[in-house]
Amino acid sequence: MKDRVVSGYRPSGRLHLGHYHGNLNTMIDLQETHECYFFVADWHALTTGYRDTSMLAPYTTEMVLDWLAAGLDPAKCTIYRQSDIHSIPELVLSFSMIISLGELERCPTYKEQLRELGARVVNTYGFLGYPVLMAADILIVDAELVPVGEDQLPHLELTREIARRFNSLYGQTFPEPQPILSTAPKIPGTDGRKMSKSYDNYIQLEDSPEDIERKVRKMITDPARKRREDKGHPEVCTVFELHKVHSPERLADLEKECRDALIGCTDCKDMLANRISEELAPFRERRESLATNPGIVREILEAGASKVNPIASECLERARRAMNIGTL
Ligand code: TRP
Ligand code: SF4
Repeated sequence: MKDRVVSGYRPSGRLHLGHYHGNLNTMIDLQETHECYFFVADWHALTTGYRDTSMLAPYTTEMVLDWLAAGLDPAKCTIYRQSDIHSIPELVLSFSMIISLGELERCPTYKEQLRELGARVVNTYGFLGYPVLMAADILIVDAELVPVGEDQLPHLELTREIARRFNSLYGQTFPEPQPILSTAPKIPGTDGRKMSKSYDNYIQLEDSPEDIERKVRKMITDPARKRREDKGHPEVCTVFELHKVHSPERLADLEKECRDALIGCTDCKDMLANRISEELAPFRERRESLATNPGIVREILEAGASKVNPIASECLERARRAMNIGTL
């Protein structure tokens, strides 16, 4: 039996390079060797975005089409939507009995979001319970491996804690899942901060060569390089950070050319923009042909739900029996 892998993304619309290098490429590789479950985490989107839910459906469609264009293949992995799996919320309820408020309040992402979004947005029961929902997503399919970004590690630790506690209270029921972290260097957005939809500093997978050139041209480079003849410092330059990912074979040369002022920043940027455009060209083509058949998303999600629901019900039944809930 192959190890089971699970991972989920909030439906946030079009994907960008940060997603791709963060863990989408890992997911694409894993589908070749593992039994993979990849889902749209739509309930998760509501933990912060519950006021306006009008974009959930279009964002789900766009994101699944992007997944497919990037290379996730429903013949090799199972793609589904969290809200179609009704056993998940019941498992959340059972976990909510055994996890303490303090453990949830101590979560670094909780504290950070509290600071960033303000208490008014995140003082809901659902937001505090977000890691419990994530634990249920993972344990409902008995996953052993979870490809996640580094920011999700504390949540995964809490999942492991929930699994251990459940097992020790009610008997062995769940495996303790392990994270799979991406080995790619962190990819910065065009402003040097983490690439993120909320910072508007991203390059989307579907961006045209013109969009990419425009975005890359705007990037800040080494501030000490005011004129073409000034020597550069690639270590402080975001363009160089992106070259690390996109031009690994040219990196040593580029570094020298920058330090010796043999290359101008505009040329360096255009080289980067070209590389990114070339790499994304097959994606754009597939994405365009998929867009002519958006009904495919409904079919894929229905097939995914039919496959996952029996697995999830079986798991939930096991958990209920272990807890002596609903038995006589
Ligand atoms: N919390 C993840 C995020 O915001 C999404 C997610 C939800 C997830 N459930 C998961 C990831 C289970 C991996 C496994 O990015
Ligand atoms: Fe950055 Fe390239 Fe300019 Fe050097 S030459 S500062 S690496 S953009």
